[in-house]
Amino acid sequence: MSKQDWIEKLSLVEHIEGGYFCEIYRAAEEIETLREGSARSMMTSIYYLLTDDRPIDHLHQNKSDIMHYFHAGFPITYILVDLMGQLHKIKLGLDLTKGEVPQLLVPKGYWKAAVLESGEYGLLGESVAPGFDFRDMTIAKAEEIQAQFPNLWHELAAYVRT
Ligand code: GUN
Repeated sequence: MSKQDWIEKLSLVEHIEGGYFCEIYRAAEEIETLREGSARSMMTSIYYLLTDDRPIDHLHQNKSDIMHYFHAGFPITYILVDLMGQLHKIKLGLDLTKGEVPQLLVPKGYWKAAVLESGEYGLLGESVAPGFDFRDMTIAKAEEIQAQFPNLWHELAAYVRT
């Protein structure tokens, strides 16, 4: 299947972070949190697609843990900055002999970007718990990231949305 087939068959739309997505599950049950507005769905799940013409998931942060599951296509490289300011690069994919991982947990509070480095597309799933809410997401601003992580700026600049 081509990227266009996936986009059409899964009803994917452009995501503001980059790539394409469709939310396929939002738990009806809610929990109270200490976050803005308090109530959050217990869990959400999306399909997420990076393509050769929208290859970057721009740097952002979420208040929830997020599990990523590789589904199809070419591997996707994750660029993470942990709570100690350490940089990690991990490939989500199925070739274990190359060190790729089929599932990747990105803990809450980490900065995260992703890139499709080669191939036409990479398709994955993301489960978020508590469920996704725009109020829990922060999109990186260049000045802030540069000030917070001056030593990493050369690695991160390409992934910060302008
Ligand atoms: N709506 C916009 N972005 C997202 C996302 O990343 N996850 C979910 N579940 N819904 C969204």
